[in-house]
Amino acid sequence: MEQKQTPLLDAVKDFIATKPAYFRIPGHRLERGISPRWTDSVGMKLFAYDVTETPLTDDLHSPEGAIDEAQKLLAALYGADQSFFLVNGSTCGNEAMILSAALEGEKIFVARNAHKSAMMGLILSGAEPVYVMPEVLPAWGIQGELTAASVQKAFEANPDCKALFLVSPSYYGVCSDLAAIAEVCHAHGALLLVDEAHGGHLYFHDGLPTGALDAGADFCVQSMHKVTGALTQSSVLHCKDHGVGSAVFERIAQNLHLVQSTSPSYLLMTSLDCARYELALHGTEMVEKALALASYARERIQEIAGFRCMEGAQFDRTRLVISACELGLTGYMLEKLLYEKYAVNMELADDKNVLAIVTYANEQEDLDRLVAACADISHTCERRVPYNMRASTQRSSALQKNHEYPPFPQPPQQILTPRKAYFSNTGKVRWQEAAGQVSGQVIAPYPPGIPVIYPGEQISQEAWDYIECFRREGRHIHGAGKDGRLDFVKIVAL
Ligand SMILES: Cc1ncc(COP(=O)(O)O)c(C=O)c1O
Repeated sequence: MEQKQTPLLDAVKDFIATKPAYFRIPGHRLERGISPRWTDSVGMKLFAYDVTETPLTDDLHSPEGAIDEAQKLLAALYGADQSFFLVNGSTCGNEAMILSAALEGEKIFVARNAHKSAMMGLILSGAEPVYVMPEVLPAWGIQGELTAASVQKAFEANPDCKALFLVSPSYYGVCSDLAAIAEVCHAHGALLLVDEAHGGHLYFHDGLPTGALDAGADFCVQSMHKVTGALTQSSVLHCKDHGVGSAVFERIAQNLHLVQSTSPSYLLMTSLDCARYELALHGTEMVEKALALASYARERIQEIAGFRCMEGAQFDRTRLVISACELGLTGYMLEKLLYEKYAVNMELADDKNVLAIVTYANEQEDLDRLVAACADISHTCERRVPYNMRASTQRSSALQKNHEYPPFPQPPQQILTPRKAYFSNTGKVRWQEAAGQVSGQVIAPYPPGIPVIYPGEQISQEAWDYIECFRREGRHIHGAGKDGRLDFVKIVAL
């Protein structure tokens, strides 16, 4: 191989050169939103900050100096009893929360729209998941909130569950009523663990749903890189003691050793310290700006023929969930068009929608480009010209029908816990013969990386049909083979 090549560096450079209007994670928007406090200090000297545990720089795994102070400042800002820096994303925070809250053989409620890091936590801990289903928003084809009533019902059937793990806000910005859910959990002596990966900014503006800690969660994780200005992989875990599980508090620090590097990056940790600094000083203005930009775009997109943009009360309004289904465009088509024709880069697409994440570091021009692109697409589709995407109303609905995915399936029957299945002897079967078999692996269409099948579940026909839609269209699936195709599935040899 040609060792003088730098394919990754080149790819990143090429992408930046397209000067995209950027609506993806990380929220700092190609450096624009990095704290000036940091850039003023580092300038070109960034690499000098890539240090390790020197006599001055403390130790993440046993903090008693600068890191300890920085974590305490973070805890004070969010009203936590204790906060931890994470250098392996919210992924490791979710793993540590589950690993600490439910031991081998113990039960834990897990919302079925959980990110796959929850499954990794279950594999590590050996706990037995009991799944709870969030509501569905049929108009958008996405999962909505988990209701307190469904949690109450779940406890009636499983009063011995030690904790509930849920995601709020969801990727699409849908929030659950965490105060009501916390009350139900605590009344049953159980902990509330919230994957707040997408919600680190909720605490800084009254116009947003209440943050998990303020609502009564015992633990939550936040990806500070997603919308609050830190570098990719930089996240935090907060703890607040409601008197439900003091032993769990002790286990958290211990379990973070298990899931984090012994060489934590000081670039990531410095970025966390500076992101906290900006939020503490300017958090409200930052969120205000994102909200204003998103509202501006939402109002205009709503007026474009054939386009819709999601609204709602329990919803993070800095997210733009956009659908052009009425024009016969799936979310995947819309995403492709937006980037290839207009260099507008969305965070994700599903069969119906695209998602733009708007942060403080976006500028008016980005939103103008998004709105103008949507208007042009609408105009083009109405005139039935390029991309041949809407030749007639009839064709448009046929096209839409062909691309319509079935609703997210109910959890299949769990034969083994994720841990037992993961460590079992496995064989392989062709995907076409997989229905009815006990999966030895996760299957999670990506994005958004929500498992449809957990290891240990008997692959139901409903789940098989759902996954088949992604497979048939060549969508990315976590759990597929090296070539990205799900031709074979690992099954447990029972
Ligand atoms: C809901 C949710 N939780 C957790 C994660 C993992 O976060 P991280 O990328 O910080 O590890 C993601 C990633 O997208 C996510 O969407």
